[in-house]
Amino acid sequence: MDPNGKVALITGAGSGIGRATALLLAENGVSVVVADVDESGGNETVETVKAVGGEAAFVRADVTSRDDVEAMVAFTKKTYGGLDIAYNNAGVGTPGPRFPDAKPEDWERTFLIDLLAVVACIQAQVPAMKERGGGVIISTASIAGLMGYMPDPIYAAAKHGVVGLTRSMEYLQAEANIRVNCVCPGVVDTPMIRQVRDNSDPKARAQAEAILASMPLIEPRTIAETVLELIRDDSANGVAMAITYGRPARQVEAPMRFGRPDPAQQRRD
Ligand SMILES: NC(=O)c1ccc[n+]([C@@H]2O[C@H](COP(=O)([O-])OP(=O)(O)OC[C@H]3O[C@@H](n4cnc5c(N)ncnc54)[C@H](O)[C@@H]3O)[C@@H](O)[C@H]2O)c1
Repeated sequence: MDPNGKVALITGAGSGIGRATALLLAENGVSVVVADVDESGGNETVETVKAVGGEAAFVRADVTSRDDVEAMVAFTKKTYGGLDIAYNNAGVGTPGPRFPDAKPEDWERTFLIDLLAVVACIQAQVPAMKERGGGVIISTASIAGLMGYMPDPIYAAAKHGVVGLTRSMEYLQAEANIRVNCVCPGVVDTPMIRQVRDNSDPKARAQAEAILASMPLIEPRTIAETVLELIRDDSANGVAMAITYGRPARQVEAPMRFGRPDPAQQRRD
């Protein structure tokens, strides 16, 4: 899809990766709806976009509220006439002690924001994209959605869920001309990482520091560039893109694809 002249809705766009993506898309001619629960962060993103001559509007939305999710899609249609690109990016880590010591309300919140809200967002976005004859949906999973992540197993489970959801929705391209993809960043220099470092649980903090020491920080703009590439590349569908420091973004293949023969089976035949 040529992004120029299109309309994007980005959740968690009041900070970090979401803000960097709002800016890059606006620089490429996209009108951006900045959705976030944090009003001051969201408004700051809008000002940043406008400062470079881009077009953006803020809507306050808590992605764990179905009403807010419906309302942010309605706001996008009302403000810019429709929805072409959705970037479901809002996410959090689990605060406090590591699972299984974590409080149930804390790990539930991680699943709610990092996985269930992505499902709810996609469900609300698809009908709006069908009205436009198609679209692109991208979610922020994580490298922790493709490998074990010991400091926060709940976060890893939720992000694996986003990868599984993405890989399982490639049929939407044939059905509705909508491509569904996700990005899986390594460690990105955003406020989220500063929060991980401030975790009140010394064990979780030490684990996180060990991981951070082995993974150099990536700039948020690098993730935004991959999001833009996934928008542009009409062949990208149902893919999970790993983005780690110092290497080009790359598609991570699932060991098998549904409905296609297992290569090992073929070798036996
Ligand atoms: N920073 C990293 O190292 C890293 C690595 C891999 C994946 N990610 C993922 O990238 C995404 C963006 O994270 P970031 O690093 O930019 O963090 P960030 O904390 O800078 O930004 C996250 C944004 O999401 C918003 N948000 C949180 N809960 C929300 C809710 N219920 N409704 C609406 N908005 C909400 C926050 O207000 C914030 O503006 C997340 O999904 C995160 O899991 C981050």
